[in-house]
This record gives sequence, structure tokens and C-alpha cells, in this order.
Amino acid sequence: MLTTATTTARRRVAGGLLLALLAVVLLAGACNRGGGTRDKFIIGFSQANKAEPWRTWMDNSLMKEAAKRPNLEILYADAQQDNSKQVADVENFLRQRVDLLIISPNEAKPLTGVVRRVYESGIPVIVLDRSVEGDSYTTFIGANNREIGKAAGEYAAQLLGGKGHVVEIKGLPGSTPAIDRSEGFREALAGHPGIKIIAGPVADWLRDKGREQAEAALRANEKIDLIYGHNDPMAMGAYLAATAMNHAEALKIIGIDGLPGTEGGAKAVIDGKLDATFLYPNCGREAIETAVKILNKEQTPKRITLPTARITKENAAQFINE
Ligand code: FRU
Repeated sequence: MLTTATTTARRRVAGGLLLALLAVVLLAGACNRGGGTRDKFIIGFSQANKAEPWRTWMDNSLMKEAAKRPNLEILYADAQQDNSKQVADVENFLRQRVDLLIISPNEAKPLTGVVRRVYESGIPVIVLDRSVEGDSYTTFIGANNREIGKAAGEYAAQLLGGKGHVVEIKGLPGSTPAIDRSEGFREALAGHPGIKIIAGPVADWLRDKGREQAEAALRANEKIDLIYGHNDPMAMGAYLAATAMNHAEALKIIGIDGLPGTEGGAKAVIDGKLDATFLYPNCGREAIETAVKILNKEQTPKRITLPTARITKENAAQFINE
């Protein structure tokens, strides 16, 4: 009788201890997920198209910043400018339950659903440079493309002395910077009735397509005074077309990106190939700094707007080195 009671009491104590131990283990696990004390955080980084020079610049900055933090592991996926591949890449990160997703979406609409699913599953999401629809993400980081477009329009008007014919070569239509850079540009030129935008072909952000579109426009129109490319590769395509067709002398060309280095937009301005470009910051360092804050459960703003700058012959030398 006495022995049975003792055994039962012992079992109870042992059971209680086991439960307490389990609670401690679970609690420690929960703290670990949220806190900055974890040995390793896994970040999934979904890039829209690594082949473009501006994105190589972004990748390098991001990887350099991540390398300073040994507890971060970056899983990298390049969508190669293919929306379905990017959706699959992000689904893959979701299946792996990464700790955080960084994405620069190729186009807004096709990527909105999968980004929302990741965000709603509790994984924080940082969206870089191009946006998605709605606001199902933790933080957006990038420059204000509407303002850049406006600055480009105002500078175009200045270069043209308030009158002339303009061709606008546009980026991928479903990507938000193409929309914003166009709206800002047209808004600025609305105040200059002497300037007419006579064509707005699409070249999907790509140099060779930019060249083809510029060639077609130069062939179809007798008088073009300025070509505005939504990025430097397309503006450089226009320069190549104009040079091949002996139009480069009279034509003004402006772009956006202002990459450093000998192949970048800043050097093209120094060389007189482009009349101006506008710095489009690459967001890589800020992406990692923000990711670390989020993983440490610090508050981050919904939108981090990075500064831009107009680059002309006067100041281009300052932008050659990073
Ligand atoms: C690269 C790029 C840049 C441009 C940015 C806009 O893919 O085309 O040249 O500034 O994307 O998102």
C-alpha cells in the first residue's frame, strides 16, 4: 500500500519535471527564433535579373555587407527576368522556411501574390528597388523613381532651352520604376509646351533593345533632339544607334543609374556619350542593415527612400569610384 503510494508520487514528480523541461526547451526555441542570439539566420535573396550591370552592382554590395556578419547565410536565386521563375524561386524559399526574404521583383503584378503569401506566413519581407502591388511586405527600400523622372524631365527642358522633339525609351512596362520614371518625366515636361514627346517605345531595360528602338525612331523621325532612356544601358543603346547613323553630334541623351567604374554611366558622361544620368542607389548595403534590424525584432519604417543625384560633366568624376 505504502509502496504503491510512493511510486505514484515519484511518477508524478518525474512527470512534472519532464513537463517543466519540455516547457523550458520550447521557450528557449521560441526566444531563439526571434532574438539576435541565433548562430545562423538564413536569408533568401530573389534577384530579378543578375545579367544587368546595375544588379551586379547591387549583388556585390549586398554580399559584401552580408559577409561582415558571420551569422547570416544568403541563399541566392536569379530569376533571369522571368516572372514565373521568380515565383518558383520565392516558393522554394517559403518551403525552406527562410528567416527573411529579400526580393527585387521583376514585375509588380505577377509577384504580388507570392510575396503576400510569404509575408502572411510570418516571414519578414524586404522589397528592393521595384515594388509589388499593395503593402504586404515589411519594408520597401529604394529611390523615388517619380522624383528621378521629374528631375530628368526638368533637365531635359533645360538642355533643350524649352523646345524640341523627345523620344522616351521605356523599361519593362510592368515594373514600377518604368511607370514612375515615365510619369515623373511627363509631369515635368507638361510645364514646357514647346517640348513634344514624339515616341515612347519599350526596350525592357536592355541595351540591345534600346539600340533597336532608337534606330527605328531615328529612321522614322526627321528631327529628334533628345532621347531619354529609363536606364543607362538603354541610353547607351541609343548612343550606339545615333553614332552608327551619324546623329550623335546634335542629339542629347540622358539616362538613369550612374554606375561607378569604367563601364558605368558616370564614365559615359565624362566621355560625352551621355549628357547626364541620375544616380540610382543600389540598395544592397541598406538591405542587409535593415534585415539585421528586422531579425533582431527592431522596428523598421515601411519605406526607406534612398537619395539620388544628377550626374553631369561638372560632377561626374565624384561618381566614378564607389
Ligand atoms: C536593372 C535595372 C536598372 C534600373 C532598375 C530599375 O535591372 O534595369 O538599370 O535602374 O533595374 O528597376
